[in-house]
Amino acid sequence: GGAQGSVQDLAGRTVVVSAGGTREPIDPVRFIGNRSSGRQGVALAQAALARGATVTLVAANLAQDVTDQVEAGPGRAACTVVRVESTAELREAVRTAGADADVVVMAAAVADFRPAATPDAKIKKVPGQGPAPIELVENPDILAEIAHERLRPGQVVVGFAAETGDASGSVLDHGRTKARRKGADLIAVNAVGSGRGFGTDANDVTVLDGAGDVVGQAAGSKREVADALWDAVVKRLP
Ligand code: CTP
Ligand code: CA
Repeated sequence: GGAQGSVQDLAGRTVVVSAGGTREPIDPVRFIGNRSSGRQGVALAQAALARGATVTLVAANLAQDVTDQVEAGPGRAACTVVRVESTAELREAVRTAGADADVVVMAAAVADFRPAATPDAKIKKVPGQGPAPIELVENPDILAEIAHERLRPGQVVVGFAAETGDASGSVLDHGRTKARRKGADLIAVNAVGSGRGFGTDANDVTVLDGAGDVVGQAAGSKREVADALWDAVVKRLP
């Protein structure tokens, strides 16, 4: 593990990394969102740049300090940043950049559902009446789509699974089920909740292959986790 920029094992490779969290509009001023900062995705993009890749970062609503990091970051010539808000925009950007990419990494927290309708005008409260329910519809699963279609032959497709253990299984049980369902080559499983994962600078992941078998383990800074994941990706590149 841990190439930390000296090894150019992604030279000549094109990679797409999605980062952050999507926002689904309720009306022109409101949205449904999530707490993803984009830190892990940006660390993946930076690690890939250091290893020689040409990178497209599809950035969905990054935390301000993460945006600042992207803007100050080195190697910008080899990094294209596409800013998106909604899942529909993220999907379009990832599919466009992914069409000729060697690797697609879905590190973004994608909203599972979106409001069925987005009115052009702000929703008003009517005095004395309760709130109108917001009908939701399911978003497309971008990772599963790309994993099953393979936008380019031999493309390596990587996902994340943020899990909490519950009565039906452990973090790893849920990760294994997800790995098999998604059809991706690699899934990085991490435990979230109780201050772990979201918004912090450290991460702890178990890397599974598409069959759900453990092929790597990494704990430490999000950059160290990123390099461990790229190590696993490099082994799978044709
Ligand atoms: N993902 C995606 N499109 C979606 C939902 C998720 O591409 N509509 C991707 C995420 O970017 C991540 C992986 O799928 O790489 C797993 O996301 P996760 O939310 O953990 O899985 P879901 O399939 O949405 O299952 P659930 O939320 O029910 O656990
Ligand atoms: Ca989800």
